Amino acid sequence: MSDGAGLELPEDADVVVLGDNADVLPRLRDGTFQLVYVDPPFNTGGRRDRRTLRTTRTDDEGDRTGFGGRRYTSVETGRMGYPDSFADYAGFLAPRLEHARRLLTRSGTLYVHLDWREAHYCKVLLDEIFGRECFLNEVIWAYDYGGRPKDRWPAKHDTILVYVRERGAHLFDQDQVERIPYLAPRLVSPEKAARGKLPTDVWWHTIVPTNSREKTGYPTQKPEGVLRRVLLPSSRPGDRVLDFFAGSGTTGAVAAALGRRFVLVDESPEAVRVMRERLGSGPVYLGATGAPLPAPDAG
Ligand SMILES: C[S@@+](CC[C@H](N)C(=O)[O-])C[C@H]1O[C@@H](n2cnc3c(N)ncnc32)[C@H](O)[C@@H]1O
Repeated sequence: MSDGAGLELPEDADVVVLGDNADVLPRLRDGTFQLVYVDPPFNTGGRRDRRTLRTTRTDDEGDRTGFGGRRYTSVETGRMGYPDSFADYAGFLAPRLEHARRLLTRSGTLYVHLDWREAHYCKVLLDEIFGRECFLNEVIWAYDYGGRPKDRWPAKHDTILVYVRERGAHLFDQDQVERIPYLAPRLVSPEKAARGKLPTDVWWHTIVPTNSREKTGYPTQKPEGVLRRVLLPSSRPGDRVLDFFAGSGTTGAVAAALGRRFVLVDESPEAVRVMRERLGSGPVYLGATGAPLPAPDAG
């Protein structure tokens, strides 16, 4: 896919691009994505880092106890993460969200995943970019883990703002939404209880469990179940999906499982390394100019 000035993206291939999305987005062609999902840094005011613990060694003074009471020391092999502090968050996001709108098909939808810090500013921004009539939903993803501060209500939800390119022309295939159990199944008929009910705009879903198959170790990785709920009604098999704050590649993993094509962009080499491990040799891996990235063992 290219229009001369555009980034050379192979037709009918999944693509992972290492680069600043500000450089990549202007080079993608108008109206070529059915769905854009983004999960930008939340502006927490620091860095989002995670230690990568790969090995342990026996050590009498070690910090961990293993089989037979033997002591071990954890050996930190690296850190993964990204900066998450912005003096002008709206100024950072606005041009990128304008591109998101330009890149959507007429029936396309944008999902922007945020938390309490910036969601309200972004909603105002998105109303300006898309028009208020194109606001579709404010989805609340509610989870329950981690500490509980004593001086306020523990914050245990994220906000996903949903905007469509053209209200009325947009795709929302409710039949594709995975149904959930009724809270009180005995209050409805056995047929209804067996069928389950449609989820609302409040999604209860666990975070990525520590020892689960999908856990990559990348900080702020989102659960595949949340992305399934995003992709199923708002895209069809064969459609192209874009995530330009891709992190560990959750959008790509779910798109591949559901038969969608994907383009993922992240500026962090660590993120692209994690995506390679997760997505394997299926996608094409490119730099921001469109040149192929060397395979990891090619040095
Ligand atoms: C919250 S994380 C995304 C996590 C992802 N949804 C997942 O499930 O793993 C945000 C990502 O945006 C990336 N990022 C931040 N600024 C960027 C930029 N200007 N261009 C491309 N990627 C950027 C960071 O490197 C980080 O991986």
